Amino acid sequence: MNEDKCSRKLTIVGAGAVGTSAAQWAASRTVAESIVLVDVVEGIPQGKALDLAQASPLLDFSSVLTGTNNYADTADSDVVIIAAGLARKPGMTRDDLLEKNIRIIRSVTNEIVRYSPYACLIVVTNPIDAMVYSVFKESGFPKQRIIGMAGVLDSARYRTFIAHALGVSPSDVTALVMGIHGDNMLPLTRLASVGGVPLEDLLSREEIEKIILRTQHGGAEIVQHLKTGSAFSTPGLAAVEMAQSILQNQMRVLPCAAYLEGEFGISGVFLGVPVVLGRNGIERILEFELTPEERTALATSVEAVRKQVAAIGI
Ligand code: 2OP
Repeated sequence: MNEDKCSRKLTIVGAGAVGTSAAQWAASRTVAESIVLVDVVEGIPQGKALDLAQASPLLDFSSVLTGTNNYADTADSDVVIIAAGLARKPGMTRDDLLEKNIRIIRSVTNEIVRYSPYACLIVVTNPIDAMVYSVFKESGFPKQRIIGMAGVLDSARYRTFIAHALGVSPSDVTALVMGIHGDNMLPLTRLASVGGVPLEDLLSREEIEKIILRTQHGGAEIVQHLKTGSAFSTPGLAAVEMAQSILQNQMRVLPCAAYLEGEFGISGVFLGVPVVLGRNGIERILEFELTPEERTALATSVEAVRKQVAAIGI
């Protein structure tokens, strides 16, 4: 961390849809004094950063935006959001991206490690739970500084669908999604509440089941509409929400993919769990007692993640 400097630096790798959205949200919230957008394609990060910089008088932000193809410009970043790689098209699962994205992720990680050895890395590239593991292995960084984005996005989807079903403000819905960023994710019903009232007292089992299913397929639903790519606005914002908590030491409690070593009885995988994010990255994991059903559901998630990781041969 840039502890002795009052400025903070955020790098976003990948000037595609998610990276560009993350840059926009990061600038509009002034989460860092310096925001760097880096991509291999010449001209794209430069053009996008300049375009976004020109929004500063209208949005009233003061972050300095740089677009570059050169990782030297990312040096000494405090947080790096890795959003490089391909997105899904209709009919594809996140696992279909594995082979192509793993190569991209490996070379990106090496560049980041070289220039920002003290950064916290937030991995957004799909399939997230395997990619984050690869970044962990490749970087040699401590587990606290390697975090996968997914739970913030999946929980936001879950909260949105609950709010719509009840006709209430999404801000008043508290809900947690744990596990893999895939069909086997675990939107917890027992802990979901609306203004402090348990969700299970407000909706029938069938209504909740429908919401859970829609949350689990929330990404695919958007891919079906877009046809040429996948969701980008909320994924970008979710990554920025995490980055902001680290950059500004907010100690937000957010569901993130963290490396588990015994927590929830699970070891050796990255999995979505509630964590506290502060200046050191994952400050701690909030562990709690799961019901036998929840434990079984989480075990299914773990199995799916282990399969992904095995497929990349780490
Ligand atoms: C999604 O769920 C991008 O995987 C991401 O939309």
